[in-house]
Amino acid sequence: MPHSSTQEITDIILKAANKARQEIKPGQEKSFTNPVKWPIDCLVGPGLEGAIACESEIGYVNGSSGELIYRGYNVFDLCAYSNFEEVSYLLIHGHLPTAVQFKKFKKDLVSYRFVPKTIRTLMSFPVEEMNSMAALRLGSNLLRREFSYVDQRTYRPDYPPISSDEDSIPMETRPMGEKHAIYEFNNGKITQRNNKFSELNSPSGLKSCYQLISGVAAVAAAVSRMRQGHLPIEADPELSHAANLLYMLTGRKPTAVEERIMDVALILHADHGMNASTFATMVVASTLSDLYFAVGSGIAALNGPLHGGANEQVLHMLEKIGSVNNVKDWYQKARSRKDKIMGFGHRVYKAYDPRARVLGPLAKYLVEKSENKRSLELFNVATELEKKVVDTLGVEKKIFPNVDFYSGIVYSCMGIPADLFTPIFAVSRVSGWTSRVLEYLKNNRIFRPRAVYVGQFDLDYVPLNKRKGEKSDKK
Ligand code: SDX
Repeated sequence: MPHSSTQEITDIILKAANKARQEIKPGQEKSFTNPVKWPIDCLVGPGLEGAIACESEIGYVNGSSGELIYRGYNVFDLCAYSNFEEVSYLLIHGHLPTAVQFKKFKKDLVSYRFVPKTIRTLMSFPVEEMNSMAALRLGSNLLRREFSYVDQRTYRPDYPPISSDEDSIPMETRPMGEKHAIYEFNNGKITQRNNKFSELNSPSGLKSCYQLISGVAAVAAAVSRMRQGHLPIEADPELSHAANLLYMLTGRKPTAVEERIMDVALILHADHGMNASTFATMVVASTLSDLYFAVGSGIAALNGPLHGGANEQVLHMLEKIGSVNNVKDWYQKARSRKDKIMGFGHRVYKAYDPRARVLGPLAKYLVEKSENKRSLELFNVATELEKKVVDTLGVEKKIFPNVDFYSGIVYSCMGIPADLFTPIFAVSRVSGWTSRVLEYLKNNRIFRPRAVYVGQFDLDYVPLNKRKGEKSDKK
């Protein structure tokens, strides 16, 4: 029998699922669920709205009804009965694992949690002064070096670090310019590294997916610790992916409830169709660059406040509003400025985001149990703002809370700092990114859309000395 309070979490999810099923008219958007015969006609708006980039069996976002499906399973059911490791296996392999497959997969994931070289190298950077997603992206690049031998396929020997002391430069003839650079970088000693290049370590193979799912989590946790002035914590092989993430982030083993809620949050963020960061990842991979570069571009795209960066902005917005009494006035002013309200709206959902349907009640559960009265106040601000937005923009423009609206309250109740909200989004989405890259590479075609040229034609070249000055050319 699961720990009683984790059963409460399952009940919250099932209740949200029931509410959704009562409120939405299920149905498939035919245009997005029928196999296509290329080339196809589709109505495309700015920002590739409505464009069909490829076929996929990995996940489906039903925007009109507000449903999210991973490989045929409703995300509500996966949150209620599965876990992030199993969902990652499902996204990558296309089916739920057998007991033997799952045991082997989890063992692999656990082994890839240990990335000492990556963490040690990361610690030589001023991570505490960097944007947390910039640090995460740096770390995912360092993972590439730790896990794949692709840079060494040409057997490029590994030069020792630049020697910096006087002895390395014969005093009487200090080399200058290019000679110096060659001297410094190659003072004769060349150490051989293990250059065994194998498919197993191919930087776009299955193992790289597993390595990135575990490695990005380890890097995110290390970034968090360093930004708080602490040393990174080594992974605990006994803990689940979610529990180990919380442990490495906070330095303490999570309760069963915290573990369960983090696990649900990771499931909810794992995949979401062709969102900007997934598309960025696929574009990079479609050039036959590798998964590490591709995930680095996914992290970069996710960072934006219009995308994954919104979760951190939501918390700052709620803190700025401050109290329930300020919501009305704040919202009126935001509306008059036509501000984008963080945590609301979606390119695809024109109904309530099913992920917000789960994260909202989980946030409520956590704030009601929290000693920190401030989190309860912020939650009340959030629900008051939600009411105002849904009653206005929800009616006028089908704008509802999205996944980022409540996730920050959930994370902060579990002791996670706001600058780690988006990295945690990436920790989860790396499963969706890598699954979709693997799937697309099976039938790869480099992404290369067109732009409509609306510029001029047939201009004659005017030499510089014949060009008339412009008012803005200040002397
Ligand atoms: C994620 O794609 C994905 O699936 C992403 C994601 C995932 O899991 O990967 O779901 C995760 O990124 C969620 C979204 C997080 N971002 C935010 O919460 C930022 C606030 N949201 C908006 O910026 C916006 O809703 C977007 C970016 C999410 C979607 O933008 P679109 O589809 O380009 O819509 P738009 O900007 O063209 O807006 C259409 C209309 C405009 O009004 P008009 O000019 O037609 O009068 O809706 C309005 C917008 O002003 N509008 C909003 C609004 N979002 C859209 N008005 C106020 N507040 C908002 N949040």
